[in-house]
This record gives sequence, structure tokens and C-alpha cells, in this order.
Amino acid sequence: MVKKINSKTIKLIKFYNLINYNLVYNNMAINRYKKDAFEISGDKLEKLEKLKKSISKIKNCQLKDNASNIVFSDGNPKSKIMLIGEGPGFNEDQEGIPFVGRAGALLDKMLDSIDLNRKNVYITNVVNYRPPDNRRPTDDEIKRYLPFLKKHIEIINPKILILLGSTAMNALVGNEKTISKMRGQWIEQKIDEFKVSTIVTFHPAFLMRQPAQKKMAWIDLKMIRDKKTQLKI
Ligand code: URA
Repeated sequence: MVKKINSKTIKLIKFYNLINYNLVYNNMAINRYKKDAFEISGDKLEKLEKLKKSISKIKNCQLKDNASNIVFSDGNPKSKIMLIGEGPGFNEDQEGIPFVGRAGALLDKMLDSIDLNRKNVYITNVVNYRPPDNRRPTDDEIKRYLPFLKKHIEIINPKILILLGSTAMNALVGNEKTISKMRGQWIEQKIDEFKVSTIVTFHPAFLMRQPAQKKMAWIDLKMIRDKKTQLKI
């Protein structure tokens, strides 16, 4: 018997093909956070430079002491869509740019599936230096970097905040939350003095380990696409 494939399944297959992580990518990363790349106001740029400088002055930090480079951000500082990952891995540490390894290649595919890319989003991490052996940053490390992350969000002033994985979710939404409960919904997240529409979704590295969860990630991506349309971004 020939089984009929409905349009939903076809879409899902297309998405799986699209975010297939066995892709060849050019790991010559380009950092788009450059002075003249986007016409950012001097003020915003100055604030970002100042923030980067203050992070680089952090003292007695095991992350910084073991890292090769600070990994501050990538993408368009003018964007209204900001993504937060966990922390740099080996490739990111080498290049000084977030999400340039395999997880980054999958992230790019995921963004592309909803017409986003590094020219129209802004990306950073919870911690700006690579944790040794790619371990998860400790609670103390997360706490230490949190004021910088909040300042970063305040400077970018996004309309949509995308938290990739449980470290970003725990840092900004709360430690008691679980990603399976939190993903797939919009929350109005208070970041100090301001509120931003926030969605939690799976980290691309997790999706590489658990490809069956890609269908849930696709639901989240479609929600982001719809929100973008709704907010006229
Ligand atoms: N994983 C992250 O969370 N961030 C990166 O920059 C790279 C991998």
C-alpha cells in the first residue's frame, strides 16, 4: 500500500533537509559587529565598546584565564531580534565570534528557514569566554556575567529575545524552569527595567544530539516568524 504524505509532513521533511547539520560550511568566520557595517548611532556603538572593555577587564575568572579570545557578539547591533546562547566553544574561542562551529552552522540554517541571518539578528552568549573543556558555565560564573548580559540586552534593546537552551533560560528567566515546559511560548520577560517578548527554544547543539526534537524547534521558529510579522520587524 502506498502511504499518502500530507503537506504538513512535506514541510517537515523540507525543514529537516534545511537544518541537516551534515553540511559543509566555511569556517572562515566574518564578524559583522564592525564599526561601519551597519549605520549604528555612535552612542550605541560607544556603549557596546564600553561594555566589551569592561568584560575584558574581569579579574580572577577561570573562563577568561583559560580562553584565547573574548567572544562578544556577532550580527547587526541595530536588529530588533537578539539571540542568546550559552558560551563559546573551541571554534568560537579561536575566532572570537559566537556560533561559528557546527552548532553555529545549524543555527544559521534554522535562522535561514525563517528568513533571518546574521545581517538581521544580533547574537551573544551568557558568558563571553570559553568554559574549559566546553563545560557548562557554573552558577557563580553565570551570576558574574549576568550584569554584563543584561546591559548588553539593554543596549541592543530588542523587541524579540530568543533564548537558546537551558543555560540562557536559567540565567534570564529563572533556575527553577525546565526547557521542555518553557519552550514554545511567548513570555514578557522583565530584564531589570524593561520588558521584552521572549521565547525559549532548544540549543542547536542539543538538536544535533537529539534530532527528534527538531520538530519542536520548527514550531518555535514558526512562532518567531509570526511574531516578527506581527511586530512588523
Ligand atoms: N554554543 C553556544 O552556546 N555559543 C556559541 O557561541 C557556540 C556554541
